[in-house]
Amino acid sequence: MPSHPPQNLTIATTGASGAIFLRHLLLAVARDKRVQTVNFIASDSALRVMAEELGLMGRANLVNRILGPSSTTSGSATSGNRASNIRASSKIKEQSNADIGANVASGSYPADAMIVIPCSVGTLARIANGVASQLIERAADVSLKEKRPLVLCVRETPLNKIHIRNLYRVADAGATVFPLIPAFYYRPASLDEMAREFAYRVLAHLGLPQPQAFRWKG
Ligand SMILES: Cc1cc2nc3c(=O)[nH]c(=O)nc-3n(C[C@H](O)[C@H](O)[C@H](O)COP(=O)(O)O)c2cc1C
Repeated sequence: MPSHPPQNLTIATTGASGAIFLRHLLLAVARDKRVQTVNFIASDSALRVMAEELGLMGRANLVNRILGPSSTTSGSATSGNRASNIRASSKIKEQSNADIGANVASGSYPADAMIVIPCSVGTLARIANGVASQLIERAADVSLKEKRPLVLCVRETPLNKIHIRNLYRVADAGATVFPLIPAFYYRPASLDEMAREFAYRVLAHLGLPQPQAFRWKG
């Protein structure tokens, strides 16, 4: 049975817009002492989008560059970036999307939960239809077959009927469709604050509530 709260997370990122949401999710899990291990997988298209949105080029030292200080990070949650980077190097391990023999490709590996953020409709389609030819889709397929939590932060607009059918299919198979739609009622002062609160909502959904998260009091 998966640990609750999850200690061993698989975090994948694909070529949909919203790399800043991935950055804040990784920052939060790097800080969170309950999380012991993170297997991180980025598709090639995710790198293309990160180049546009975060100004990051190439794969070398990718995790630490996503976490590292840049013009798009600010505020209290990123003030410990240096410490986060040190922790990240030991607990966040990048796996190649081409390596279908990586640990998370097998149900015997004790992954507790998986998040795809952002999730493209291409990756959604492959997961929804059991096409497991790369590691991200294979790990998602394993999560579903092992009945482990799988959270898909899908981003596309507008949605066509193929997307909507695939959203239904993954939900029906046990995944949580967690669209990349941030809230506005707490009046985020910056893109970072908006992305950070969204990341906190994803983690709370998996049993990892963050003490700094906004809470509606009515
Ligand atoms: C700058 C940029 C933004 C994109 N935004 C989206 C998006 O929001 N949603 C989406 O599904 N695809 C988006 N795409 C297209 C995907 O990257 C493309 O379909 C890709 O093949 C997805 O591959 P992957 O699912 O293996 O990562 C975008 C591409 C680029 C270059």
